[in-house]
Amino acid sequence: MGIRRSGKSSLVKVLMRKEEAIWIYIDLRKFEGKNYLNYKDIVQEFEKAINSLPDKLKNLFRGIKGVNISGLEIRFGWDRENKVDMSNVFEKLSEISEKEGKKVIIVFDESQELRKLRGYNLLYPIAYAYDNLKLRFIFTGSEIGMVYKFLKLEDPKSPLYGRAVTEVYINPFSKDMAIEFLKRGFDEVKVKVSDEELEDTYNNLGGIPGWLTYYGFYHIQYKDHKTALEKTILTGVELIREEFKNFLLNRQEAKERYYTIMQVCKQGCRWSEIKRAIEAKEGVRIDDKEVTGLIRNLIDASFLAKEGEIYRPTDALIAKAF
Ligand SMILES: Nc1ncnc2c1ncn2[C@@H]1O[C@H](COP(=O)(O)OP(=O)(O)OP(=O)(O)O)[C@@H](O)[C@H]1O
Ligand SMILES: [Mg+2]
Repeated sequence: MGIRRSGKSSLVKVLMRKEEAIWIYIDLRKFEGKNYLNYKDIVQEFEKAINSLPDKLKNLFRGIKGVNISGLEIRFGWDRENKVDMSNVFEKLSEISEKEGKKVIIVFDESQELRKLRGYNLLYPIAYAYDNLKLRFIFTGSEIGMVYKFLKLEDPKSPLYGRAVTEVYINPFSKDMAIEFLKRGFDEVKVKVSDEELEDTYNNLGGIPGWLTYYGFYHIQYKDHKTALEKTILTGVELIREEFKNFLLNRQEAKERYYTIMQVCKQGCRWSEIKRAIEAKEGVRIDDKEVTGLIRNLIDASFLAKEGEIYRPTDALIAKAF
């Protein structure tokens, strides 16, 4: 778990290289801009991941209902006539794990996207696998609160209720780490950057590895600190605006309110300031619970964080995007 561009996918990918296991990596980031996903979307992602396994493992999927193998290509059915059951896929992967004497680890990268899955509850096969099979799961997410809303570990009616998980949080680099990170990167490509410039970079971008990487990339391209910083900010602001639009996808009715909150909270704000700003804008009273709910959603999606009584953007560039 960690805010956007904090290095979650990178960390998982390092693990995938270091840890001897059969890895099934499901990239859900591509669904960010979609209103909802269906069974087909998920099945096709698994199909892709499993097709990248060695042929001898792929062959073991023969004979499962809804699975067709032509040549060396596996096809998973997803429609009514010919539908693969995810529990069967998990069972097979578990069998493979025992047979090969290797762990099978399934990664759902940006797993909060699975909340948008319609007409199918993936938590059932996952719970079944958790209780009965030899599989491990990794769920990553930028929208930290949303990941928990998907997993529903604390909802007695949910399939995964009460299951134990290990939580790993990735925080942005501290100032020292950020500067060290940039220094090492520039050393590798033999570029000289002054201490003031490195400091200025941290002061503007904060410690998010993703932004620091962009800065390094632009600095190599333009060979100038100011230009590199400007380009990074421009790119970052654009990305954040796009991500905020995705956040608003299923929340159009409250769109203006969310923008108001982000504007008021750019440099930090209190609950009462948020309420006042929305009321001033709309010219009507608004319910306290409503205000709290809106803020909660922004926190769950990692746009805001609460420090004491103050709500702040989670990332320096968020302030510049609104
Ligand atoms: N520990 C690290 N050392 C060096 N580079 C890193 C590190 N962590 C992340 N990066 C770089 O930062 C960028 C963002 O990292 P990554 O894509 O892994 O983040 P993420 O948390 O998965 O972000 P997103 O929310 O966008 O999926 C990448 O370009 C990556 O190369
Ligand atoms: Mg990622």
